[in-house]
Amino acid sequence: MSKLSTTFLGHTFANPLMNASGVYCMDATDLGALHTSDSGSYITKSCTLEARAGNPEPRYRATPLGSINSMGLPNKGYGYYLDLARAHDYSHKPLFMSVAGLSLADNLVMMRTIRDANLPAIVELNLSCPNVPGKPQIAYDFAAMDAMLAAVTKEYTRPIGVKMPPYFDIAHFDEAAAILNRYPTVAFITCINSIGNALVIDTESESVVIKPKDGFGGIGGDYVLPTALANVNAFYRRCPEKRVIGCGGVKTGEHVFQHLLAGASLVQVGTALQEEGPGIFARLNAELIALLDRKGYKNIDEVRGRLKTL
Ligand code: DHB
Repeated sequence: MSKLSTTFLGHTFANPLMNASGVYCMDATDLGALHTSDSGSYITKSCTLEARAGNPEPRYRATPLGSINSMGLPNKGYGYYLDLARAHDYSHKPLFMSVAGLSLADNLVMMRTIRDANLPAIVELNLSCPNVPGKPQIAYDFAAMDAMLAAVTKEYTRPIGVKMPPYFDIAHFDEAAAILNRYPTVAFITCINSIGNALVIDTESESVVIKPKDGFGGIGGDYVLPTALANVNAFYRRCPEKRVIGCGGVKTGEHVFQHLLAGASLVQVGTALQEEGPGIFARLNAELIALLDRKGYKNIDEVRGRLKTL
């Protein structure tokens, strides 16, 4: 066991790093690159019942401080990812599947089929897609979120995780956590999805930079690190029976360390992976090891949740 190895939901991970769903995970080529990378695990693109082409391009743009996207859930349909999950070599690294049905009924169909396939893949149920025109995020509608979790956890009784959007108010942390705590099989919480519906403007062209939704899209990268850390720590404190996966603003080993301090068990990489490619995992692992060594930590489990307050 190396310094970076850890266990999560009964699976062993060589290190805490993985992609954020949406990045490098649309098809077998992308996922193959993650498989051979130095990530500890990886996750498939959020899937729907049927394949989708997604929103018109350009629909992703990098900026000096991060990225903006409004992809619109392009994906190959859940059957494609389920077939890959059937063929996956779980002894090499664990695999997550992201599920993002356009309705409760669609999620139930997908979750039943995934259940019946009886695979070691871990489901992350996406409650926070901000980019499908006319479909508000479930996790910003607490009654809808509660109803979704009640129905899904009744059908799918194995442990699952939920991908959450950022919240910005203590009352919302309290309410969201109270709902999640009603569902013991919600075993992990991934914080955060992009900060939704932001607007990047290019001064020279006096224009938006992505085509869908008049330029509105979810932002990631440097813009979101403090919001991500706050959400990780807020849910870590409020949901002691659950694990937290950190996601947001990670581009150095130091950022991974900060997510671990805030309470993350695993850490996802989005914008920085998109910009740097899967070679980023070797760099982040090396930077994290150097930081753990300098601080005298023997493993990452010692770091988790150790954040000090003043
Ligand atoms: C998309 C974006 C998201 O943030 C998400 O959670 C799911 C899908 C997208 O636009 O494809």
